[in-house]
Amino acid sequence: MSNKMWGGRFETGPSEIMEEINASITFDQRLYAQDIRGSQAHCRMLVATGIISAENGERILHGLDTILSEIEAGDFTFSRALEDIHMNIESRLAELIGPDAGRLHTGRSRNDQVATDFRLYVRDTVDTFAQQIATLQAALARKADAHADTILPGFTHLQNAQPVTFGHHCLAYVEMLERDRTRFLDARARMNECPLGAAALAGTSFPIDREMTAKELGFDRPARNSLDAVADRDFVLETLAAAAITSTHLSRLAEEIVLWATAQFRFVSLSDKFTTGSSIMPQKRNPDAAELVRGKVGRVIGALNSLMTVMKGLPLTYSKDMQEDKELTFDAFSTLSLCLAAMTGMVDDLEPNADRMHEAAAEGFSTATDLADWLVRELGLPFREAHHITGSLVALAEGGDVMLDGLTLEQMQSVELRITKDVFDVLSVDNSVASRKSLGGTAPDNVRTEARRWLDLRKV
Ligand code: ARG
Repeated sequence: MSNKMWGGRFETGPSEIMEEINASITFDQRLYAQDIRGSQAHCRMLVATGIISAENGERILHGLDTILSEIEAGDFTFSRALEDIHMNIESRLAELIGPDAGRLHTGRSRNDQVATDFRLYVRDTVDTFAQQIATLQAALARKADAHADTILPGFTHLQNAQPVTFGHHCLAYVEMLERDRTRFLDARARMNECPLGAAALAGTSFPIDREMTAKELGFDRPARNSLDAVADRDFVLETLAAAAITSTHLSRLAEEIVLWATAQFRFVSLSDKFTTGSSIMPQKRNPDAAELVRGKVGRVIGALNSLMTVMKGLPLTYSKDMQEDKELTFDAFSTLSLCLAAMTGMVDDLEPNADRMHEAAAEGFSTATDLADWLVRELGLPFREAHHITGSLVALAEGGDVMLDGLTLEQMQSVELRITKDVFDVLSVDNSVASRKSLGGTAPDNVRTEARRWLDLRKV
């Protein structure tokens, strides 16, 4: 039997394999709410413009409401023979209200319909991400406030560089996440144009009111070019790019948590809630959630790559290739959403080991820059010369297997005669951190102020 939605010129139905490759209903049924919402807006507009009668409009709207409840109650049978969510719903509408159901598709096509549904879906997801990111930022800002004074070794090249505070480190992620959050919102602003009414590709001869449907669906305006409206998917690409960058940030934090939780670092302890044990080694506590957040970024970047590859060779306008936009997007979105939730839980539960971090921060001559700065400030030396002298002092300490503050004043003076005992004030990690009061620096007072500013912004 040929397809009842479009089979006029067809004698037989598609082959089994054709049906399998063509159908999207197994995954695009996720768009049911957006599809019904879009259809109802279109229907109201058709009535308002006199394209269909008020009576037909009422029956269509009511039928669509019934379908929405059926789907939500799990009472709807999706059919693969009907390909996709659009035709499944329209076909059910015909069962419910008869042939007048066919009037709904006046002045529209599945091409503008799917572009509209998907935009609505992506827009809703962006709003969810913005919320979830804000929640994670709040969790990080709470840790930052609680640990504004807790010392952490700051690394470059994963080598001890200068001591910082744990709070400052948390706030670095808050900043990254703020760019991620606003990147999603920027994408939202660009995507918020309504494709509905572009019809198949060229617009329609019916006197439709695109401003009306755009407004009803919460779009800022109708898309201005019908070809572009049905042919482009950059709203998804841009959102996936924002998702890929966010996932990358989460992955970096996840990697730090994995490192920090090792027996070698021992910087943090993780709770039972986000770790697992081993079936053979009773002592183990594995940071699985962090590892998975680190690992799942592959899927999200993969989705961006896949869709870029799908789109790159497509002539205008719609091609069926574009149906490939959905599964990977759904997967990337649920992946990121889960990772944001898992990371928020891990951050909330994570307990820094302040003593161990303090001890590690003092290793590796981490206050050497403070010593060089002292030579500049107190003895008026050019920084390069101070750097050189400090290097010699580090070599001296290394040779004697002591930290910088383990050198005697005499030993220091053997390198630079004018050094006084005041130098010892700048050699402790606590003094080092407290002195970094420059804007954006790691001094505890700065960190506390910043953490509270964020907590205030996030109102928690
Ligand atoms: N299921 C299709 C998709 O997701 C809907 C659009 C179909 N349009 C068409 N001309 N066959 O892309």
